[in-house]
Amino acid sequence: MTLLVTGGAGFIGSNFVLDWLTQSDEPVVNLDKLTYAGNLENLSSLKGDARHIFIQGDLGDRALVDALLAQHRPRSVLHFAAESHVDRSILSPEDFIQTNIVGTFRLLEAVHAYWSGLPEAEKNAFRLLHVSTDEVYGTLAKDDPPFAETNPYEPNSPYSASKAAGDHLVRAWHHTYGLPVLTTNCSNNYGPYHFPEKLIPLMIVNALAGKNLPVYGDGMQVRDWLYVKDHCSAIRRVLESGTLGETYNVGGWNEKPNIEIVHTVCALLDELCPKADGSSYATQITHVQDRPGHDRRYAIDARKIERELGWKPAETFETGIRKTVQWYLDNPEWVANVQSGAYREWVAKQYQETNS
Ligand code: NAD
Ligand code: TYD
Repeated sequence: MTLLVTGGAGFIGSNFVLDWLTQSDEPVVNLDKLTYAGNLENLSSLKGDARHIFIQGDLGDRALVDALLAQHRPRSVLHFAAESHVDRSILSPEDFIQTNIVGTFRLLEAVHAYWSGLPEAEKNAFRLLHVSTDEVYGTLAKDDPPFAETNPYEPNSPYSASKAAGDHLVRAWHHTYGLPVLTTNCSNNYGPYHFPEKLIPLMIVNALAGKNLPVYGDGMQVRDWLYVKDHCSAIRRVLESGTLGETYNVGGWNEKPNIEIVHTVCALLDELCPKADGSSYATQITHVQDRPGHDRRYAIDARKIERELGWKPAETFETGIRKTVQWYLDNPEWVANVQSGAYREWVAKQYQETNS
Protein backbone atom coordinates (compact mmCIF):
# COMPACT_ATOMS: atom_id res chain seq x y z
CA MET A 1 0.00 0.00 0.00
CA THR A 2 1.30 3.44 -0.97
CA LEU A 3 -0.02 7.00 -1.18
CA LEU A 4 0.85 9.47 -3.91
CA VAL A 5 0.80 13.04 -2.64
CA THR A 6 1.12 16.09 -4.91
CA GLY A 7 2.51 19.31 -3.41
CA GLY A 8 3.90 17.53 -0.34
CA ALA A 9 6.74 20.04 0.08
CA GLY A 10 4.35 22.97 0.59
CA PHE A 11 2.81 24.17 3.83
CA ILE A 12 -0.15 21.82 4.23
CA GLY A 13 1.28 18.96 2.15
CA SER A 14 4.46 18.74 4.23
CA ASN A 15 2.49 18.84 7.49
CA PHE A 16 0.34 16.04 6.08
CA VAL A 17 3.33 13.88 5.08
CA LEU A 18 4.99 14.38 8.47
CA ASP A 19 1.78 13.56 10.35
CA TRP A 20 1.05 10.57 8.13
CA LEU A 21 4.43 8.99 8.72
CA THR A 22 4.21 9.43 12.50
CA GLN A 23 0.98 7.41 12.43
CA SER A 24 1.55 4.89 9.66
CA ASP A 25 4.28 2.94 7.92
CA GLU A 26 2.50 3.19 4.58
CA PRO A 27 4.98 4.87 2.21
CA VAL A 28 4.33 8.26 0.63
CA VAL A 29 5.46 9.15 -2.88
CA ASN A 30 5.70 12.95 -2.87
CA LEU A 31 5.51 14.71 -6.26
CA ASP A 32 6.35 18.40 -5.98
CA LYS A 33 7.66 20.90 -8.50
CA LEU A 34 9.45 22.88 -5.77
CA THR A 35 8.16 26.29 -6.79
CA TYR A 36 9.10 29.19 -4.48
CA ALA A 37 6.52 27.71 -2.04
CA GLY A 38 7.95 24.18 -2.00
CA ASN A 39 10.59 23.59 0.64
CA LEU A 40 12.32 20.28 1.23
CA GLU A 41 13.64 21.61 4.53
CA ASN A 42 10.10 21.05 5.87
CA LEU A 43 10.77 17.32 5.40
CA SER A 44 14.35 17.21 6.64
CA SER A 45 13.36 14.99 9.58
CA LEU A 46 12.52 12.28 6.98
CA LYS A 47 16.04 12.23 5.52
CA GLY A 48 17.06 8.61 5.00
CA ASP A 49 13.53 7.37 5.76
CA ALA A 50 12.64 4.83 3.05
CA ARG A 51 8.94 5.48 3.61
CA HIS A 52 9.25 8.92 1.96
CA ILE A 53 10.03 8.95 -1.76
CA PHE A 54 10.47 12.48 -3.09
CA ILE A 55 10.16 13.23 -6.81
CA GLN A 56 10.71 16.73 -8.14
CA GLY A 57 8.34 17.30 -11.04
CA ASP A 58 5.24 18.98 -12.39
CA LEU A 59 1.83 17.37 -11.88
CA GLY A 60 1.07 18.49 -15.44
CA ASP A 61 3.86 16.25 -16.79
CA ARG A 62 1.71 13.38 -18.00
CA ALA A 63 4.58 11.02 -18.82
CA LEU A 64 6.09 11.49 -15.37
CA VAL A 65 2.78 11.01 -13.52
CA ASP A 66 1.95 7.93 -15.64
CA ALA A 67 5.34 6.44 -14.80
CA LEU A 68 4.98 7.16 -11.06
CA LEU A 69 1.53 5.58 -10.96
CA ALA A 70 2.72 2.50 -12.85
CA GLN A 71 5.83 2.09 -10.71
CA HIS A 72 4.39 2.74 -7.24
CA ARG A 73 0.78 1.58 -7.74
CA PRO A 74 -0.70 3.89 -5.07
CA ARG A 75 -4.00 2.96 -3.43
CA SER A 76 -4.86 6.68 -3.23
CA VAL A 77 -3.76 10.04 -4.60
CA LEU A 78 -3.95 13.15 -2.39
CA HIS A 79 -3.85 16.31 -4.47
CA PHE A 80 -2.46 19.29 -2.53
CA ALA A 81 -0.31 20.91 -5.24
CA ALA A 82 -1.47 24.38 -6.24
CA GLU A 83 -0.49 27.96 -6.62
CA SER A 84 -2.06 29.20 -3.41
CA HIS A 85 -1.46 32.90 -2.77
CA VAL A 86 -4.31 35.31 -3.65
CA ASP A 87 -2.06 38.37 -3.97
CA ARG A 88 0.25 36.57 -6.41
CA SER A 89 -2.81 35.48 -8.41
CA ILE A 90 -3.81 39.13 -8.77
CA LEU A 91 -0.38 40.23 -10.02
CA SER A 92 0.27 37.20 -12.28
CA PRO A 93 -2.60 34.72 -12.77
CA GLU A 94 -0.99 32.56 -15.50
CA ASP A 95 0.68 30.03 -13.17
CA PHE A 96 -2.64 29.59 -11.34
CA ILE A 97 -4.38 28.62 -14.55
CA GLN A 98 -1.57 26.24 -15.49
CA THR A 99 -1.25 24.41 -12.19
CA ASN A 100 -4.69 24.64 -10.59
CA ILE A 101 -6.69 24.02 -13.77
CA VAL A 102 -4.51 22.45 -16.49
CA GLY A 103 -2.38 20.56 -13.95
CA THR A 104 -5.47 19.20 -12.18
CA PHE A 105 -6.93 18.16 -15.54
CA ARG A 106 -3.73 16.29 -16.52
CA LEU A 107 -3.61 14.60 -13.11
CA LEU A 108 -7.22 13.48 -13.55
CA GLU A 109 -6.43 12.06 -16.97
CA ALA A 110 -3.43 10.15 -15.66
CA VAL A 111 -5.27 8.86 -12.59
CA HIS A 112 -8.29 7.87 -14.68
CA ALA A 113 -6.10 5.80 -17.04
CA TYR A 114 -4.29 4.14 -14.11
CA TRP A 115 -7.48 3.44 -12.13
CA SER A 116 -9.25 1.99 -15.20
CA GLY A 117 -6.54 -0.66 -15.49
CA LEU A 118 -6.58 -1.79 -11.84
CA PRO A 119 -7.94 -5.19 -10.83
CA GLU A 120 -11.49 -4.97 -9.42
CA ALA A 121 -10.61 -5.04 -5.69
CA GLU A 122 -7.93 -2.35 -6.03
CA LYS A 123 -10.20 -0.32 -8.26
CA ASN A 124 -12.95 -0.35 -5.64
CA ALA A 125 -10.58 0.66 -2.87
CA PHE A 126 -8.91 3.48 -4.84
CA ARG A 127 -9.51 7.18 -3.93
CA LEU A 128 -8.46 10.53 -5.38
CA LEU A 129 -8.75 13.19 -2.67
CA HIS A 130 -8.73 16.75 -3.99
CA VAL A 131 -7.77 19.42 -1.45
CA SER A 132 -9.59 22.68 -2.04
CA THR A 133 -10.57 25.91 -0.35
CA ASP A 134 -13.60 27.72 1.05
CA GLU A 135 -12.70 30.66 -1.22
CA VAL A 136 -14.59 28.99 -4.10
CA TYR A 137 -17.84 30.07 -2.39
CA GLY A 138 -17.02 33.78 -2.68
CA THR A 139 -17.66 36.23 0.12
CA LEU A 140 -20.20 36.50 2.95
CA ALA A 141 -22.00 39.54 4.35
CA LYS A 142 -21.72 40.10 8.11
CA ASP A 143 -24.90 38.20 9.05
CA ASP A 144 -24.92 35.51 6.35
CA PRO A 145 -24.81 31.89 7.55
CA PRO A 146 -21.41 30.21 7.03
CA PHE A 147 -20.62 28.33 3.81
CA ALA A 148 -22.31 24.93 3.55
CA GLU A 149 -21.45 22.33 0.88
CA THR A 150 -24.65 23.36 -0.91
CA ASN A 151 -23.62 27.01 -1.37
CA PRO A 152 -23.23 28.08 -5.01
CA TYR A 153 -19.68 28.63 -6.28
CA GLU A 154 -18.98 32.38 -6.61
CA PRO A 155 -15.17 32.74 -6.76
CA ASN A 156 -13.88 36.31 -6.83
CA SER A 157 -10.08 36.15 -7.23
CA PRO A 158 -8.00 34.50 -9.94
CA TYR A 159 -6.84 32.06 -7.23
CA SER A 160 -10.34 31.07 -6.12
CA ALA A 161 -11.60 30.93 -9.71
CA SER A 162 -8.78 28.54 -10.63
CA LYS A 163 -9.49 26.35 -7.59
CA ALA A 164 -13.22 26.37 -8.42
CA ALA A 165 -12.40 25.22 -11.96
CA GLY A 166 -10.26 22.40 -10.54
CA ASP A 167 -13.11 21.36 -8.22
CA HIS A 168 -15.54 21.24 -11.16
CA LEU A 169 -13.17 19.06 -13.18
CA VAL A 170 -12.80 16.64 -10.27
CA ARG A 171 -16.59 16.50 -9.91
CA ALA A 172 -17.04 15.89 -13.64
CA TRP A 173 -14.51 13.02 -13.70
CA HIS A 174 -16.59 11.36 -11.00
CA HIS A 175 -19.95 11.88 -12.67
CA THR A 176 -18.79 11.10 -16.19
CA TYR A 177 -16.17 8.40 -15.72
CA GLY A 178 -17.00 7.11 -12.24
CA LEU A 179 -13.57 8.11 -10.88
CA PRO A 180 -13.74 7.63 -7.07
CA VAL A 181 -13.08 11.17 -5.85
CA LEU A 182 -13.47 13.08 -2.60
CA THR A 183 -13.15 16.87 -2.23
CA THR A 184 -12.42 18.91 0.87
CA ASN A 185 -13.01 22.69 1.00
CA CYS A 186 -11.11 24.09 3.94
CA SER A 187 -10.85 27.50 5.56
CA ASN A 188 -7.59 29.42 6.22
CA ASN A 189 -4.88 27.27 7.77
CA TYR A 190 -2.04 28.36 10.05
CA GLY A 191 0.78 26.55 11.84
CA PRO A 192 4.38 25.33 11.34
CA TYR A 193 6.08 25.61 7.92
CA HIS A 194 3.67 28.31 6.70
CA PHE A 195 5.43 30.40 4.07
CA PRO A 196 5.81 33.99 5.33
CA GLU A 197 3.84 35.60 2.52
CA LYS A 198 0.53 34.70 4.19
CA LEU A 199 -0.96 36.81 7.00
CA ILE A 200 0.04 35.00 10.20
CA PRO A 201 3.65 34.00 9.40
CA LEU A 202 4.28 37.35 7.68
CA MET A 203 3.21 39.19 10.83
CA ILE A 204 5.42 37.01 13.03
CA VAL A 205 8.56 37.36 10.92
CA ASN A 206 8.04 41.07 10.22
CA ALA A 207 7.43 41.79 13.89
CA LEU A 208 10.64 40.03 14.92
CA ALA A 209 12.59 41.82 12.18
CA GLY A 210 11.35 45.22 13.42
CA LYS A 211 9.40 45.80 10.19
CA ASN A 212 5.92 47.18 9.55
CA LEU A 213 2.94 44.85 9.99
CA PRO A 214 0.92 45.65 6.84
CA VAL A 215 -2.83 45.30 7.43
CA TYR A 216 -4.90 45.64 4.26
CA GLY A 217 -7.62 48.31 4.40
CA ASP A 218 -9.50 48.53 7.71
CA GLY A 219 -8.38 45.05 8.81
CA MET A 220 -12.00 44.04 9.47
CA GLN A 221 -12.02 41.25 6.87
CA VAL A 222 -12.96 37.98 8.55
CA ARG A 223 -11.37 34.56 8.03
CA ASP A 224 -12.14 31.24 9.76
CA TRP A 225 -8.80 29.91 11.03
CA LEU A 226 -7.90 26.22 11.38
CA TYR A 227 -4.67 24.82 12.82
CA VAL A 228 -2.97 22.90 10.02
CA LYS A 229 -2.75 19.61 11.92
CA ASP A 230 -6.53 19.68 12.32
CA HIS A 231 -6.81 20.03 8.54
CA CYS A 232 -4.51 17.01 8.17
CA SER A 233 -6.66 14.93 10.52
CA ALA A 234 -9.79 15.95 8.56
CA ILE A 235 -8.14 14.80 5.31
CA ARG A 236 -7.22 11.46 6.87
CA ARG A 237 -10.80 11.03 8.07
CA VAL A 238 -12.31 11.88 4.67
CA LEU A 239 -9.84 9.54 2.95
CA GLU A 240 -10.81 6.69 5.30
CA SER A 241 -14.56 7.13 5.41
CA GLY A 242 -15.80 9.84 3.02
CA THR A 243 -18.62 9.03 0.61
CA LEU A 244 -17.46 8.94 -3.01
CA GLY A 245 -18.22 12.06 -5.04
CA GLU A 246 -19.04 14.09 -1.91
CA THR A 247 -17.47 17.33 -0.77
CA TYR A 248 -16.71 18.12 2.87
CA ASN A 249 -16.28 21.62 4.28
CA VAL A 250 -13.54 21.78 6.89
CA GLY A 251 -13.24 24.69 9.32
CA GLY A 252 -12.23 25.67 12.80
CA TRP A 253 -15.30 27.59 14.02
CA ASN A 254 -12.81 30.42 14.57
CA GLU A 255 -14.05 33.49 12.74
CA LYS A 256 -11.83 36.47 13.45
CA PRO A 257 -11.13 39.83 11.82
CA ASN A 258 -7.56 40.23 10.56
CA ILE A 259 -6.78 43.10 12.90
CA GLU A 260 -7.64 40.90 15.90
CA ILE A 261 -5.32 38.18 14.57
CA VAL A 262 -2.48 40.68 14.25
CA HIS A 263 -3.04 41.99 17.78
CA THR A 264 -3.08 38.42 19.13
CA VAL A 265 0.23 37.65 17.40
CA CYS A 266 1.74 40.87 18.82
CA ALA A 267 0.52 40.09 22.34
CA LEU A 268 2.02 36.58 22.20
CA LEU A 269 5.33 37.94 20.95
CA ASP A 270 5.28 40.60 23.71
CA GLU A 271 4.96 37.74 26.20
CA LEU A 272 7.30 35.17 24.65
CA CYS A 273 9.98 37.45 23.15
CA PRO A 274 9.63 40.95 24.66
CA LYS A 275 11.33 43.84 22.89
CA ALA A 276 14.38 45.30 24.58
CA ASP A 277 12.83 48.79 24.75
CA GLY A 278 9.68 47.43 26.43
CA SER A 279 7.37 48.64 23.64
CA SER A 280 4.71 46.37 22.12
CA TYR A 281 5.08 44.82 18.66
CA ALA A 282 1.62 46.32 18.02
CA THR A 283 3.31 49.71 17.49
CA GLN A 284 4.58 48.26 14.15
CA ILE A 285 1.03 47.83 12.76
CA THR A 286 0.38 49.94 9.65
CA HIS A 287 -2.72 50.03 7.49
CA VAL A 288 -1.88 49.74 3.77
CA GLN A 289 -3.96 49.89 0.61
CA ASP A 290 -6.61 47.16 0.42
CA ARG A 291 -6.36 44.11 -1.86
CA PRO A 292 -8.40 44.58 -5.09
CA GLY A 293 -11.69 42.65 -4.89
CA HIS A 294 -10.87 41.66 -1.30
CA ASP A 295 -13.41 39.11 0.02
CA ARG A 296 -14.90 40.52 3.20
CA ARG A 297 -15.76 37.37 5.11
CA TYR A 298 -15.24 33.60 4.93
CA ALA A 299 -16.81 31.20 7.42
CA ILE A 300 -17.28 27.44 7.25
CA ASP A 301 -20.22 25.40 8.41
CA ALA A 302 -18.34 22.22 9.35
CA ARG A 303 -21.35 20.28 10.60
CA LYS A 304 -21.45 17.75 7.74
CA ILE A 305 -17.96 16.34 8.38
CA GLU A 306 -18.71 16.23 12.11
CA ARG A 307 -22.11 14.56 11.67
CA GLU A 308 -21.13 12.06 8.96
CA LEU A 309 -17.47 11.35 9.77
CA GLY A 310 -17.16 12.36 13.42
CA TRP A 311 -14.40 14.92 12.78
CA LYS A 312 -13.91 17.98 14.97
CA PRO A 313 -10.85 20.24 15.33
CA ALA A 314 -8.65 19.46 18.33
CA GLU A 315 -7.18 22.96 18.71
CA THR A 316 -8.90 26.20 19.64
CA PHE A 317 -7.49 29.35 18.07
CA GLU A 318 -5.85 30.24 21.40
CA THR A 319 -3.94 26.94 21.68
CA GLY A 320 -3.06 26.77 17.98
CA ILE A 321 -1.77 30.32 17.63
CA ARG A 322 0.41 29.97 20.74
CA LYS A 323 2.00 26.81 19.32
CA THR A 324 2.50 28.57 15.99
CA VAL A 325 4.20 31.67 17.38
CA GLN A 326 6.42 29.43 19.54
CA TRP A 327 7.33 27.33 16.48
CA TYR A 328 8.53 30.42 14.58
CA LEU A 329 10.55 31.54 17.62
CA ASP A 330 12.12 28.09 17.83
CA ASN A 331 12.97 27.90 14.11
CA PRO A 332 14.79 31.10 13.08
CA GLU A 333 16.97 29.14 10.62
CA TRP A 334 13.95 27.86 8.70
CA VAL A 335 12.67 31.44 8.45
CA ALA A 336 16.04 32.78 7.28
CA ASN A 337 16.34 30.05 4.65
CA VAL A 338 12.92 30.61 3.09
CA GLN A 339 13.55 34.32 2.78
CA SER A 340 15.49 33.86 -0.44
CA GLY A 341 16.24 36.49 -3.06
CA ALA A 342 13.10 35.62 -5.04
CA TYR A 343 10.96 36.01 -1.94
CA ARG A 344 12.45 39.42 -1.14
CA GLU A 345 11.76 40.62 -4.68
CA TRP A 346 8.12 39.56 -4.31
CA VAL A 347 7.71 41.41 -1.03
CA ALA A 348 9.23 44.58 -2.51
CA LYS A 349 6.86 44.46 -5.48
CA GLN A 350 3.69 43.57 -3.55
CA TYR A 351 3.99 46.07 -0.73
CA GLN A 352 5.26 48.89 -2.95
CA GLU A 353 2.16 48.41 -5.15
CA THR A 354 -0.32 48.16 -2.26
CA ASN A 355 1.08 51.39 -0.79
CA SER A 356 1.09 53.34 -4.05
P1 NAD B 1 1.64 26.04 -0.74
O1 NAD B 1 1.67 27.15 -1.74
O2 NAD B 1 2.33 26.22 0.57
O3 NAD B 1 2.25 24.70 -1.39
C1 NAD B 1 1.94 24.29 -2.68
C2 NAD B 1 2.94 23.21 -3.07
O4 NAD B 1 2.58 22.76 -4.40
C3 NAD B 1 4.39 23.69 -3.13
O5 NAD B 1 5.22 22.75 -2.50
C4 NAD B 1 4.68 23.78 -4.62
O6 NAD B 1 6.05 23.54 -4.94
C5 NAD B 1 3.77 22.68 -5.18
N1 NAD B 1 3.41 22.91 -6.58
C6 NAD B 1 2.96 24.06 -7.14
N2 NAD B 1 2.75 23.89 -8.46
C7 NAD B 1 3.04 22.59 -8.73
C8 NAD B 1 3.00 21.80 -9.91
N3 NAD B 1 2.62 22.33 -11.06
N4 NAD B 1 3.36 20.51 -9.83
C9 NAD B 1 3.76 19.96 -8.65
N5 NAD B 1 3.83 20.67 -7.51
C10 NAD B 1 3.48 21.97 -7.54
O7 NAD B 1 0.09 25.71 -0.54
P2 NAD B 1 -0.66 25.18 0.76
O8 NAD B 1 -1.04 26.34 1.59
O9 NAD B 1 0.12 24.08 1.36
O10 NAD B 1 -2.00 24.62 0.11
C11 NAD B 1 -2.11 23.25 -0.29
C12 NAD B 1 -3.48 23.02 -0.87
O11 NAD B 1 -4.47 23.36 0.09
C13 NAD B 1 -3.78 23.90 -2.09
O12 NAD B 1 -4.49 23.14 -3.03
C14 NAD B 1 -4.63 25.03 -1.53
O13 NAD B 1 -5.50 25.53 -2.52
C15 NAD B 1 -5.38 24.30 -0.43
N6 NAD B 1 -5.82 25.12 0.70
C16 NAD B 1 -4.94 25.94 1.34
C17 NAD B 1 -5.36 26.68 2.45
C18 NAD B 1 -4.43 27.55 3.23
O14 NAD B 1 -4.87 28.28 4.13
N7 NAD B 1 -3.12 27.53 2.98
C19 NAD B 1 -6.69 26.58 2.87
C20 NAD B 1 -7.56 25.72 2.18
C21 NAD B 1 -7.11 24.99 1.11
P1 TYD C 1 -3.84 35.39 3.29
O1 TYD C 1 -3.01 34.79 4.38
O2 TYD C 1 -3.17 35.87 2.05
O3 TYD C 1 -5.00 34.33 2.95
P2 TYD C 1 -6.33 34.50 2.04
O4 TYD C 1 -6.25 35.75 1.25
O5 TYD C 1 -6.26 33.28 1.19
O6 TYD C 1 -7.48 34.51 3.01
O7 TYD C 1 -4.65 36.61 3.90
C1 TYD C 1 -5.50 36.44 5.03
C2 TYD C 1 -6.18 37.78 5.27
O8 TYD C 1 -5.19 38.72 5.70
C3 TYD C 1 -6.81 38.36 4.03
O9 TYD C 1 -8.02 39.02 4.40
C4 TYD C 1 -5.79 39.37 3.53
C5 TYD C 1 -5.14 39.85 4.82
N1 TYD C 1 -3.71 40.27 4.70
C6 TYD C 1 -3.30 41.50 5.21
O10 TYD C 1 -4.11 42.29 5.76
N2 TYD C 1 -1.98 41.85 5.08
C7 TYD C 1 -1.06 41.03 4.48
O11 TYD C 1 0.13 41.43 4.37
C8 TYD C 1 -1.50 39.76 3.99
C9 TYD C 1 -0.52 38.82 3.31
C10 TYD C 1 -2.83 39.42 4.12
